Amino acid sequence: MKIIEVKDLKEHLGEEIKLRGWVRNYRKASSKLRFVIFRDASADIQCVAFKPEMGEENFDKVKKITIESSLEVIGVAQKHPKFEDKFEFQLKDINIINIADEYPIGKKEHGPDFLLSQRHLWMRSAKQNAVLKIRHTVYFAICEYLNNNGFYRFDSPILTPNASEGTTTLFEVPYFDLGSAFLSQSGQLYLEAGIMSLGRVYDFGPVFRAEKSKTRKHLTEFWMMDAEAAFVEHDENLRIQEELIRFVIRTVIDKNTRELEILERDVEQLKKADAPFVIMTHREVIDFLKGKGVEIGYLDDFGAPEEELITAEYNVPVFVDRWPKEIKSFYMKRDPENPDLALGADLIAPEGFGEIIGGSQREDDHDLLLERINKEGYKIEDYQWFLDLRKYGSVPHSGFGIGLERLIQWMSGVRHIREVIPFPRMINRIYP
Ligand code: 4AD
Ligand code: MG
Repeated sequence: MKIIEVKDLKEHLGEEIKLRGWVRNYRKASSKLRFVIFRDASADIQCVAFKPEMGEENFDKVKKITIESSLEVIGVAQKHPKFEDKFEFQLKDINIINIADEYPIGKKEHGPDFLLSQRHLWMRSAKQNAVLKIRHTVYFAICEYLNNNGFYRFDSPILTPNASEGTTTLFEVPYFDLGSAFLSQSGQLYLEAGIMSLGRVYDFGPVFRAEKSKTRKHLTEFWMMDAEAAFVEHDENLRIQEELIRFVIRTVIDKNTRELEILERDVEQLKKADAPFVIMTHREVIDFLKGKGVEIGYLDDFGAPEEELITAEYNVPVFVDRWPKEIKSFYMKRDPENPDLALGADLIAPEGFGEIIGGSQREDDHDLLLERINKEGYKIEDYQWFLDLRKYGSVPHSGFGIGLERLIQWMSGVRHIREVIPFPRMINRIYP
């Protein structure tokens, strides 16, 4: 007998087939009729258990099942009698693999804390399943774009001797006789070494930030894709980011129609974002915010409410460009036209999903970089290798880092970041 997935049922109407999966729910209609909502990894289907069709012995097996029991079901798929485009599965027999204990989720409305403590089970729900599928698409779409545009995958280390994004969010771990190591906040600095060999490189993996903030957009462990390219200057860096993000939008719309529907994502809104992005300087943004009555200064960063105000004006993401050097990282190159500004831009997603990318042209002058490392109070010996890159054949170069979960939030329309990663790590949660 053919074993197929629920999503392929429509190609096997009228054939006797087998499905393997779990019981999402069931309902007793009468003493001889039961409905079982059956799910596998691909989709859900309503199974009809009708005693006269199945025979007493097989029907008795159906009576034993509980929510989340694992089963093989054998039967025939047909068009749903009432709904176009829907199917039903007439059961002939079932093989019970495991009878589930009383399932903790689903009897009533649950709060997020309870659901997070049951994350290992909660991920079976239709919405969580849809988000995880979109995560898969976004991840591989990013890789596909980069692989097709001359970037080599280059795996940067997780255990590092130094900070790339400031010392306030470092996770420290004991490291044998060498004292302390730190979990990587971004692979960027290592990629800057990689490009002098490979030209264009990217990494993609977990990064760690001891973020004290409890927000809908912060995790302590999240996934970042850092890309870096030799001979690419600031404007081209922005162009690459825009092209990549627009490729991701189109890929998600193309591959995840069903998942976007399950999540009730407004796809029109996503389609509108696949158009030229807006570029504003940090100064223009501050002026705009002041005009909206926000109390903010020219040396300030923004929080979520400001990000929402900025992007409310547009359907496309906004690059906030040329930041005051004081509030950006030491490695950013200065604007040749105004040395008080950094050649860095953040990309803010529309619909209030916030910053999805941070990027910049990098300082390629040895002495200027040395000066800034000193100013940060970092130990020169820790950064000697990074300075070396400016001593031996330095070239102009740029790069950027995408927060994978932020991008998935935007694509799937999920308001809280804890739902877009299989096992979220936050300031107050490390279980399960
Ligand atoms: O803006 P960030 O800090 O930039 C860097 O780390 C650069 N070194 C990247 C580079 O140029 N290669 O982080 C990049 C992105 C942010 O724009 C945001 O989307 C995400 O990472 N991000 C977080 N996502 C979830 N939780 C957090 N705590 C995050 N912090 C940053
Ligand atoms: Mg940033």
